[in-house]
Amino acid sequence: MIYAKIKGTGSYLPSRVVTNADLEKIVDTNDAWIVDRTGIQQRHVISEEETTASMAHIAASRAINAAGIQPNDIDLIVVGTATPDRFFPSTAAILQHRLGITNHCPAFDIAGACSGFIYALSIADQFIRTGAVKTALVLGAECLTRLVDWTDRTTCVLFGDGAAGVILQADHQPGILGTHLHTDGQYEPLLYAPNQLRQQTANENLAEALEPPFIKMKGREVFKIAVNTLNQIVDETLAANHLSKSDIDWLIPHQANLRIIQASAKKLALPMERVVLTVQHHGNTSAASIPLALDIAVRDGRIQPGQLLLMEAFGAGFTWGSALVRY
Ligand code: UT7
Repeated sequence: MIYAKIKGTGSYLPSRVVTNADLEKIVDTNDAWIVDRTGIQQRHVISEEETTASMAHIAASRAINAAGIQPNDIDLIVVGTATPDRFFPSTAAILQHRLGITNHCPAFDIAGACSGFIYALSIADQFIRTGAVKTALVLGAECLTRLVDWTDRTTCVLFGDGAAGVILQADHQPGILGTHLHTDGQYEPLLYAPNQLRQQTANENLAEALEPPFIKMKGREVFKIAVNTLNQIVDETLAANHLSKSDIDWLIPHQANLRIIQASAKKLALPMERVVLTVQHHGNTSAASIPLALDIAVRDGRIQPGQLLLMEAFGAGFTWGSALVRY
C-alpha cells in the first residue's frame, strides 16, 4: 500500500500586522466586538510589492528545506487559492518557475476557497496513491485582504494573508489515511467575491452599476451552516476510517472563527489544548489557514511523528472537506 506522507512543512506571513486597534481607526468597530465574536486579535496584511505567488514561493522554499529535497524532485504542484496573481497562468506555474523546477511537472491551482488546501491535498494524495507521482508540493496561498472593502466592518475585520504548505512523498508508512470533499453550489449568494468579467460580458453599458469586487458574506447564516456541516464531516471521517473521537491527537481546523472551532472541538470531545489555534494571530487566511496552523505546530514541537491529525475546512461554494493524517 502506498501512502502520501508529509515530509516537510513551510509557511510565510507578511510582516505587516494590523491589530484590532488599528481597525478601530478606520471603521466603526472595536476590539471587544471582534475578539468576542471571532477570537481575532490581529492579522498579517500583504505589502504592495508582494503577491500570492511571492508568498507561496517563500512558504514552498521552507517546506522543501524541511523535507530535505531538491526542487527538481517535485513532480506535482497543486496550489489552493482564491486570490491568484493572474487569471492565467496559474500560481502553481509561476511558482514552478520561481523555484527553478525544470522537469516539466504538472502544476495547477485549485479554487476551493477556504477549503482549497484540503482539496489540493486530496488531489495530490490521489496522484501519489496511484503511483503517478512520488513527490508533491501542496500549498494554500491567499491575499484575501485585497478583496475586502476596508469600509465594510462586517468583513474587513475578518481576513488576513499568508501562504503555507507541505511536501508529500510516497511512503509505505501510513500518511494521509483519507480525505473527504464536498460542495453544495446553492449557497453562492451567502458568500462570494464578484469579479467584473461576468458583468462586463453580460452588458457593456453596466459600467456604473458594476458590483465592486469585494467579499460579500451573510455571516450569521454562513456561521450556522458551517457549524452543522463541520459536525457532519467529523462523523463521516471517523466512521469511514473506523476510528473514534478519542483516537484524534490534534484538530487542525480552518481558522475562520474561534466559536466555530470551539464547536468542532466540543463535537470531538477534544480539549482546546488539542486544537491548533491561529485565528487570534492570523484572522481568516482562507486556503492558507490549515497549513499555516500545521507548520506552526510542527515547528514548535506540539505535533509529533505518529500522531493522528484531523484537518477540516469550510468555505465559499459552499465547499467543505477533511483530511485524516498520520503525521
Ligand atoms: O471562512 C469561510 C467561512 N466563513 C465563516 O465561517 C464566517 C462565519 N460567520 C462568522 O464568523 C460570524 O457570523 C461573523 C464574525 C462574521 C459575525 O458575527 P455574528 O455574531 O454572526 O454577528 P452578526 O453578523 O449577527 O452581527 C451582529 C451585530 C450587528 O449589529 P445589529 O444589526 O445587531 O445592530 C452587526 O452590524 O454586530 C454588528 N457588527 C459589528 N459590530 C462591531 C458586525 N460587524 C461588526 C464589527 N464591529 N466589525
